[in-house]
Amino acid sequence: MVEVIDGKQVAASVIETVKSANAALEAAKGVRTGLAVIIVGDDPASHTYVSSKSRMAKECGFKSVQHTLPVETSQEELAALVAALNADPSIHGILVQLPLPRHLDSEAIIQSILPEKDVDGLSVVNAGKLATGDLKTGLVSCTPAGAMVFVRRTHGDDLSGLNATVIGRSNLFGKPMAQLLLNANATVTIAHSRTKDLAGICRNADILVAAVGRPEMVKADWVKPGATVIDVGINRIAAPERGEGKTRLVGDVAFAEVSPVAAVITPVPGGVGPMTIAMLMANTVIAAHRSAGLTPPVFQ
Ligand code: GUN
Repeated sequence: MVEVIDGKQVAASVIETVKSANAALEAAKGVRTGLAVIIVGDDPASHTYVSSKSRMAKECGFKSVQHTLPVETSQEELAALVAALNADPSIHGILVQLPLPRHLDSEAIIQSILPEKDVDGLSVVNAGKLATGDLKTGLVSCTPAGAMVFVRRTHGDDLSGLNATVIGRSNLFGKPMAQLLLNANATVTIAHSRTKDLAGICRNADILVAAVGRPEMVKADWVKPGATVIDVGINRIAAPERGEGKTRLVGDVAFAEVSPVAAVITPVPGGVGPMTIAMLMANTVIAAHRSAGLTPPVFQ
């Protein structure tokens, strides 16, 4: 029988740890963890994500600040806001929701965030620390950090001898996910849209992580029997069976046909999704501990 990981439940336990760490920090140092989230423009999906992040930060007891900027915001205005938040000692984490409107240079903005406040783990300093195996002083991108919690719960800390395949090579997910798996001693393959025999490569994986953004692309015959399958895709597709104009969310994995083949699988929704927000809160409370000179909690 396949084990379907309950991401909401795992995320809730991470959030409990965040809440108690935040309360302990406040008691010890009088410091309240502060998170600033910036959103530019009116993309409805981005607004939904950002509201959930701000709401969860409040629920964790953080100072939660949301900056909602109009689509015509200039590069200089956005850079000035990031600079002000960099200089604000009550803010420990800064997140600029991506994608930014096309006229803005995202990379310049992301790289202007102080690495110690870069709770998305996207700065070259944090990406470099992860690439060199320094998981103690850097911050790791939230979604791969969350996916890795599932991997550790299934396989433990040491993935020696296991083959892991990540489909997708983005800076936000694929690359850091591969680094985390490698750091845990897995033998890692990064596959992507230009990979030859993608199905064959996936079939070799004991741990298969899909982050391609193609609805239900990973089929049953792509999966090694007994594999752990982590689905990072969130795709909205038409669902005429629910009525005219209705939609539903599916992952990058064909859940119904893959479930009988896999040993462990994450659902969409309710798998990796809730972990992204939970790990953002974890990164922020970690950053606040470091800035107060305290050892941060560990999120397993
Ligand atoms: N857009 C979609 N996912 C993310 C994320 O994890 N961080 C940021 N900053 N933007 C996103």
